[in-house]
Formats: sequence, structure tokens, C-alpha cells
Amino acid sequence: MYVVIGATGNTGRVVTEDLLAAGLPVRVVGRSAERLADFVKSGAEAAVGDVADAEFVAQACDGVGGVYHMIPPRYDVDLSAWQSEAGKALFEGIRDAGVPYIVNLSSVGAQHHHGTGPIAGLREQEDRFNELTEADVLHLRPGYFMENLFMMLDAIRGMGVLPMPLPGDLAVAMIATRDIGAVAARRLAALDFDGHHTMELLGPRDYTMNEVASLVGAAIGVPDLPFVTVSEEDAAAGFEQMGVHPATIATFMEMYRAIADGRVAPQETRSAANTTPTTMEEFAAVLAAAYGA
Ligand SMILES: NC(=O)c1ccc[n+]([C@@H]2O[C@H](COP(=O)([O-])OP(=O)(O)OC[C@H]3O[C@@H](n4cnc5c(N)ncnc54)[C@H](OP(=O)(O)O)[C@@H]3O)[C@@H](O)[C@H]2O)c1
Repeated sequence: MYVVIGATGNTGRVVTEDLLAAGLPVRVVGRSAERLADFVKSGAEAAVGDVADAEFVAQACDGVGGVYHMIPPRYDVDLSAWQSEAGKALFEGIRDAGVPYIVNLSSVGAQHHHGTGPIAGLREQEDRFNELTEADVLHLRPGYFMENLFMMLDAIRGMGVLPMPLPGDLAVAMIATRDIGAVAARRLAALDFDGHHTMELLGPRDYTMNEVASLVGAAIGVPDLPFVTVSEEDAAAGFEQMGVHPATIATFMEMYRAIADGRVAPQETRSAANTTPTTMEEFAAVLAAAYGA
């Protein structure tokens, strides 16, 4: 039996679908039985509860052979404090259940303990799992999610530009979350890791922000959509409008600074193993559907 934390999310959904498609038994974790119902129809068991409750996590993971773990993000509270609270509870629950194989969703940039915003919280979780000498642990370190661009669609619609506090000519490893889920499911099905490892996942290639704007613009019917580097103040104001907690906005700004100054750069040389298939061109078509183009 495998447990998937965050099974209704971007990556967890794919992990669940792929494990079920391989005929493997899955217990899906989330806060709503209704949202998990389709997986139950497809043969999964559901465990409904809050990952900040270590006892619930231990029960959900009782007797299982492997877990897909991620810290669900929360932007309406202080994200770092939440990462710490939920991260500890998830760690304690998984440890107490004695799960032998853990695939943990971390991030590019997790080589650093500090100065990377939310990525530092993911590194802290890697460190917790690395205490488990009895468990085999694979930390996946993907690049910047292409899905983050969904948050920019309103700004594109309103301002006619793609605005971010990053340089336009900065090349960034960007990945579609379905590709992360596919790797996680493959490694969990194979249980082919031994000890504690990290694995970066870098998308099909690096894209500059200027290229992203041009590819997204072409797909949504705004040709020559310009990328605009905005100030931290303007970016923060945009997040404030979306209801993001002030401490979380501050940690996002730290992350953008770390991306811009190269601190959040991949450590691995690009290879067949860390290159994933979905291109920005393909993903732009998904964005276009959401944009209504
Ligand atoms: N964005 C990036 O560029 C990036 C890059 C690298 C790493 N990451 C990391 O990736 C992770 C997010 O992955 P994702 O996009 O696959 O997640 P996601 O789509 O945000 O999904 C989170 C899932 O967790 C569940 N959930 C939320 N709060 C919960 C709670 N308190 N108890 C139980 N379940 C809860 C939600 O399901 P219900 O609502 O149904 O409960 C949802 O299915 C984060 O840890 C983030 O730091 C992000």
C-alpha cells in the first residue's frame, strides 16, 4: 500500500493516477472526502484529515510500504511557520508509522539552508527525513513550476504584460507538475532507491522570462506579450491583492532575490535523467484554455 499526501493537488493527483494505473494499492490523503471520491471510485482508499495532526498522519500511514510526501502550501498564513508546523507533524507521523520508503517533494535550491524563502522550509523537511536511518528517502528537487503562471493570468489580462520581480534574460529551469508526479510514481512503484538521495528535475530546458512571455503570449492570443521586471514593492502589492499573508510575501521576495542572484540554481548538470518532457509550448496551450483564448 502506498500513501499519497496532497492527492488532489498538482503532483499528488498524477502520483495517485499513475500508481492506480499500475495496479498498485493507494491510500489518498486530503481534507475532503468529496474531493477524494473519484480516486475511491477508481479503487483507492481515502484518509481524510489534516496533515498538521501527527496522529492522523501516523494512522493514515500505518502499515504502508511507501509514501509520497509534500508539505501542502498555505499562503493565507505565515508560510514559513506553517511549513514548520505541518512539516514536523508529517515527519512525526511518517516516522511513527515506520514507513520504509519516502519520496519527498523538495525544490531546486534546497542545497541552501537559508536565504531562499519557502525553499529553506523544504530543506528543513529534507533534514528531518534524513534523520530516519531506517528509511530509504528520495528528495525530488524540481525547478520552478510552470503552474505558477496560472497566478499571472489576471495580471496579463489587466496590464497586457507578464510582470515579475526577475530579470527578463534570466534563464530558469521550469517544469510542469505532471512530470514531477510521473517521476515520483515511477520511483515509488520501482522502490529503486536505497539510503538518502536527492534528484533534481529540471523541465525540458531552461527558459528566459522573455521567452516565457513570448510563448505564453502566442498561445493566449496576445502576440509579443512583453515581460516586465517589476519592483519588489509592486510585486508585493500584487500578492497583497491576492490575500497573501505579509510574512509570506516577504518570504516570496527572498526567493525571487535568490532566483535572480543565482542562489537557487540547479546543482546537477542537465542529463536525460533530470530532463522532463513537457515543454513551455505545450504548457502554454493549457494556460490558453484557462485564459479563455
Ligand atoms: N511552486 C513552485 O514553483 C514549487 C517549486 C518546487 C517545490 N514546490 C513545493 O511543491 C509543493 C506543492 O505541490 P503541489 O503543487 O503538488 O501541491 P498543491 O497542488 O498545492 O496541492 C496541495 C494538496 O494538499 C492538500 N492539503 C492542503 N492542505 C492540507 C492539510 N492541512 N491537510 C491535508 N491535506 C491538505 C490539498 O488537498 P485538499 O484541498 O483536497 O485537502 C491539495 O491536494 C509545496 O510544498 C511547494 O513548496 C513548489
